[in-house]
Amino acid sequence: MSAPEVTSAYSKDNPFPALVTENRLLTKPGSAKETRHFVVNLTGSGLHYKAGDSLGVFPTNRPSEVAELLSRLGATGDEPVLLPKAAAPIAVREALVSRLALAGPTRKIVETLAARASASAEKARLEGLLAPEAKDMLAGFLDEREFVDLLAEFPSARLTAQEFADHLRRLQPRLYSIASSPRVFPSEIHLTVAVVRYETNHRERVGVCTTFLSDRTPVGTSPVPVFVSHSHFGPPEDLARDIIMVGPGTGIAPFRAFVQDRAAAGATGRNWLFFGDQKRATDFLYEEEWQPRLDRRELTRLDTAFSRDQINKIYVQDRMRENAAELWAWLSGGASFFVCGDAKRMAKDVDIALHDIIADRGGMPPEKAVEYVKAMKKEKRYQRDVY
Ligand SMILES: Cc1cc2nc3c(=O)[nH]c(=O)nc-3n(C[C@H](O)[C@H](O)[C@H](O)COP(=O)(O)OP(=O)(O)OC[C@H]3O[C@@H](n4cnc5c(N)ncnc54)[C@H](O)[C@@H]3O)c2cc1C
Ligand SMILES: NC(=O)c1ccc[n+]([C@@H]2O[C@H](COP(=O)([O-])OP(=O)(O)OC[C@H]3O[C@@H](n4cnc5c(N)ncnc54)[C@H](OP(=O)(O)O)[C@@H]3O)[C@@H](O)[C@H]2O)c1
Repeated sequence: MSAPEVTSAYSKDNPFPALVTENRLLTKPGSAKETRHFVVNLTGSGLHYKAGDSLGVFPTNRPSEVAELLSRLGATGDEPVLLPKAAAPIAVREALVSRLALAGPTRKIVETLAARASASAEKARLEGLLAPEAKDMLAGFLDEREFVDLLAEFPSARLTAQEFADHLRRLQPRLYSIASSPRVFPSEIHLTVAVVRYETNHRERVGVCTTFLSDRTPVGTSPVPVFVSHSHFGPPEDLARDIIMVGPGTGIAPFRAFVQDRAAAGATGRNWLFFGDQKRATDFLYEEEWQPRLDRRELTRLDTAFSRDQINKIYVQDRMRENAAELWAWLSGGASFFVCGDAKRMAKDVDIALHDIIADRGGMPPEKAVEYVKAMKKEKRYQRDVY
């Protein structure tokens, strides 16, 4: 589909205050995960999107964390702070709620605290962390901590609100692959979000944006600043082209959109989806939607890999390898290949499996398979949306 012609007044620099009209748990009781379906209403925004685009969301930080920071700083919250590139100061509370990132402390704040600490034990500990031979220890120490931990552990080092704010980076918007098609939902955007919760340094931590959406955005009443991030990732314009989609975990999101989009457009090309997650009983995202799509032939094949339903892990790339002959038949017939989800491990392993399948089934030496994949990328037949 070509880029939308109508432009909206809303953008990353001027986000649209959208209402979230649905917040539904997709994973079932007993799951190790909390993956949610959100519906964001675009009515009145003039915003347009296409299958494959992402939604940018500007979150705010947890009020409890901001309150603890203010209390440890000995601030009321009304103290003015001037942020980089800002024309005028704002109250430190507002800066901590919506402008600054409270995670990711760096060596710089350790240096500042070491210079300010008045208690000798605190000063010695900070200086120990800054010693040239302690680089790995410092990295491990910072990895386990957010800014609030540092203020809590070194209370003798006093900082003004401005001095503290100067150490914090800007709070960035987060992107989410859109899980709906505008052909079916022109004024709504659906998202598939894995909520981030974990523990480090004996404190419970949360992902800023995922818990902003899940815990701090009341449905239907509290506007969320959003923008559409247009992408080259998307289903082929040629509706007769076959597509293969590999989307484990939240990587399923854009492929729900692709399948909706191709069905609504009357695409004649076949659609093959590989999905994987931990357990079939609890983590089969959108399970109830796939069978009717298979029945209507809007989805040609669905291969699943539930990694924790047996002793040995089974992943999407294992299913690709099991079906190598047919996968190669689709590819050599011109199918496009799409991957979405985890960049660190999954996308790399899927890429290796793709190369192996092309080499084995196409009867090519490895270097020819590399060229084949390069050509697929050039022809936009191999696209990835990984994070
Ligand atoms: C193009 C694109 C599309 C995306 N699409 C989706 C999507 O469809 N669905 C989706 O859910 N996400 C998606 N993401 C990821 C999303 O943008 C966010 O990064 C994610 O939701 C986490 O955001 P957060 O603000 O909740 O967490 P943050 O506050 O940013 O915290 C995340 C950080 O917490 C730390 N962390 C997380 N877990 C642990 C742990 N167990 N132990 C120690 N540290 C940990 C890591 O440092 C991690 O980087 C996408 C990203 C991109 C770039
Ligand atoms: N820190 C990391 O390295 C990392 C990696 C991925 C996702 N995440 C985060 O975890 C949250 C949940 O992510 P998600 O729900 O999208 O799912 P996910 O964690 O990516 O998991 C989806 C499925 O992929 C499997 N998987 C793990 N490694 C794989 C590999 N190398 N190749 C193929 N499949 C593999 C998982 O199996 P098993 O879990 O049983 O191994 C699971 O069955 C998100 O916040 C995401 O950002 C973090």
